[in-house]
Amino acid sequence: MTAAYALRLEGIARRFGATRVLNGVDLAVAAGERHALIGPNGAGKSTLFNVIGGTFRPDVGRIWLDEEEVTGHSPHRLARAGLGRSFQTTRVFARQTVFENVRCALWCGEVAVHTQAGKSAPLSNWMRWWRRSPEIDERVWQVLSDLALERVAQTPAGALEYGAQRRLDLGIAWASGARTLLLDEPTAGMNRDEAAHVIAWLQGVSAGKTVLVIEHDMDAVYALADRVSVLVQGRIVATGTPDEIRADARVREAYLGVQHAKERP
Ligand SMILES: Nc1ncnc2c1ncn2[C@@H]1O[C@H](COP(=O)(O)OP(=O)(O)OP(=O)(O)O)[C@@H](O)[C@H]1O
Ligand SMILES: [Mg+2]
Repeated sequence: MTAAYALRLEGIARRFGATRVLNGVDLAVAAGERHALIGPNGAGKSTLFNVIGGTFRPDVGRIWLDEEEVTGHSPHRLARAGLGRSFQTTRVFARQTVFENVRCALWCGEVAVHTQAGKSAPLSNWMRWWRRSPEIDERVWQVLSDLALERVAQTPAGALEYGAQRRLDLGIAWASGARTLLLDEPTAGMNRDEAAHVIAWLQGVSAGKTVLVIEHDMDAVYALADRVSVLVQGRIVATGTPDEIRADARVREAYLGVQHAKERP
């Protein structure tokens, strides 16, 4: 049976010292939905991802993944339960090549999926498969080709230029096989063409997955999202379809007015 909600948050609050960053966030993301989280700088969007992803515990509130409560679970445990994420700043194995980074993510994803399905094989079997599988190499090349990373396949990930590093980060998040993906500003720092390419890729590969994406670029939000939630000062002030959000006066005042000053190059 598929869970109705891939992700559900209730009353999430978090403070740092005296600063309240999240003030009672309620959010429900349906299974298979692409949901964008927008809001001004400092609204608490990345902090919310850190809470969902288990980096920070919420002070108050509860979290469910696929209808199972996961409040306070570690990032590892959440990853095993099917949650994947990309970060606002890229995290890769810097000395490994681009190819090895994606291959590693695909392999870990396969192991996680089979372990969940109860088909646990001895680690030595997995290691043999890891070393020899041409099938996995083929899938790596597909990811690299989709994200325009083929030419830099043998480059150490740490030596990539910024846009390519961001694309690799996304490729890794996707390749890990997670059913629910948290993507923090996947197109940040990309020019218009690069961003459009990445959004088109996401539209294709996110079919059947649930995506919660933080995105400042409204073109990307409108292209990708089924629904949008607006976070302002640690609270969701509106949730709706992209058209409803575009028409919402409170949202325009709180957010879109600010955004117009930040056009892409
Ligand atoms: N670990 C931390 N310790 C203290 N304060 C923090 C910490 N993490 C975030 N904050 C504070 O929480 C507030 C919200 O930050 P957050 O990064 O979540 O905002 P954001 O909505 O992601 O902004 P942006 O759009 O600029 O990425 C900021 O004032 C930030 O300084
Ligand atoms: Mg952020």
